[in-house]
Amino acid sequence: VTTIAILTAAGSGTRLGRDIPKALVEIDGVPLVTHAARRLAASGVVDSIVVTCPPGLASVVADVVARDALVGVPVRVVDGGATRQASVAAGLALAGPDDDVVLVHDAARPFASAALVRRVVSAVRDGHRAVVPGVPVVDTIKTVTDADLPPAPAPSGTGAMGAVVAEPVISTPQRAQLRAVQTPQGFDRALLERAHDAAAHRAVDAPATDDAGLVEALGERVVVVAGEDAALKVTTERDLVLATLYARQAEK
Ligand code: C5P
Repeated sequence: VTTIAILTAAGSGTRLGRDIPKALVEIDGVPLVTHAARRLAASGVVDSIVVTCPPGLASVVADVVARDALVGVPVRVVDGGATRQASVAAGLALAGPDDDVVLVHDAARPFASAALVRRVVSAVRDGHRAVVPGVPVVDTIKTVTDADLPPAPAPSGTGAMGAVVAEPVISTPQRAQLRAVQTPQGFDRALLERAHDAAAHRAVDAPATDDAGLVEALGERVVVVAGEDAALKVTTERDLVLATLYARQAEK
């Protein structure tokens, strides 16, 4: 009965526009992947961590994470895959027979708190076999088609602005029912393995962007627990600034 955390850090982070992988970008002199690993370890409920890293960078990532004395739990590093889903599968392959709970966490969410990690693991240990943190959304969300559209006929008077990209709306889900989901996501290991096995054998248009989606595809129940602002995902330079603010706040 141990908990293993798979920390996905194999993305390139091209939207940040740096020449190093996003997980190695530093805030306050500490790489994002180390910030995330420290909080997983500080939760007291994670027994080991597997970091998925960009292929070829295993020794670099091992240097920055495994040698951080503050992490304090065993950290292994494995080459990730071409997609996040493949990276998680590579990490999952390293789970041991005693690991009955698996957390999957994005290094791109460096300030997800130890309290959030504990909340997710508690919910799994309480019998929820698939648990995701989520927060209510403030915007109204619409589903649109991404089909190629013929350029809209230019009404007179559009001037030099060119054609506006106009995506047809399909539907508007009830906002009160929506949650923006975060990581760490927590699972019963057997269920997550079954979900990944099934996904690997299924032809899909797009790879999964989270693991709970794979569990839902099995028709199994997934529950949402309260997420937090600090678990925001760092994608752009603006997010780095915001994440830094959260980090400073948390240290006060
Ligand atoms: O690209 P995105 O921001 O959705 O990535 C989410 C997380 O998945 C990041 O922590 C990233 O490092 C990780 N990832 C991965 N392997 C990939 C792509 C993304 O581990 N091939």
